[in-house]
Amino acid sequence: MQTRFIAIEGIDGSGGTTQVALLARWLEARGQRVHTTAEPSAGPVGRFLREALRDPQQRVGDAVLPYLFAADRRDHLDREIMPRLEDGHCVISDRYLHSSLAYQSLVMGLAAVSELNARFRAPDLTLLLDLDPEVCLQRILARGEPRDRFEALDRLRAVHDAYDGVVVLARSRGERLVRVDASGSVDQVHARVVAAVDEALLA
Ligand code: TYD
Repeated sequence: MQTRFIAIEGIDGSGGTTQVALLARWLEARGQRVHTTAEPSAGPVGRFLREALRDPQQRVGDAVLPYLFAADRRDHLDREIMPRLEDGHCVISDRYLHSSLAYQSLVMGLAAVSELNARFRAPDLTLLLDLDPEVCLQRILARGEPRDRFEALDRLRAVHDAYDGVVVLARSRGERLVRVDASGSVDQVHARVVAAVDEALLA
């Protein structure tokens, strides 16, 4: 199988975490060994990042975040993603490089954040869960968890637009990126995710 490293992307509230778990089960049922992971990662930089994102005082400023996400990505690749790929797993990451290209481009511009991330392995397939920012915000509010700094409607809209730029960039680099309609029920979205993965596996 060529498609071994899959990244799931999208704005906050677009359902990535749920779809990663369902896709993993689907691939396992087809006989794949699957490892699921996420960014920010479970490593030391990732843990620091999650805390920084939840800090109401925002002592780690937006201008610092691109470097932390890149540092976490280096650690995540070396410590977790590459070893799992090398021992034959299919790796599915809930967010990866394209999250930085979208979110951090709002602070430093797409060219600079792309340069900062230039040496990281691209996913074999990126699925971009596409959902209206207002619907995403409703879902986030319904979860009732503390919100991080990106979870306000204007930010969701800005990141949604930024992902459009990321799609253009990724395709210009010859990456396989599929936009998936993330509206409707969990099962409906899962069916669309599976269709996109199936097509990539056959390619
Ligand atoms: P998220 O997946 O929302 O984590 P959780 O659901 O556990 O809170 O990720 C945390 C936030 O980090 C999210 O708002 C997106 C943001 N983020 C970036 O800004 N850049 C990145 O490179 C990554 C991986 C995430």
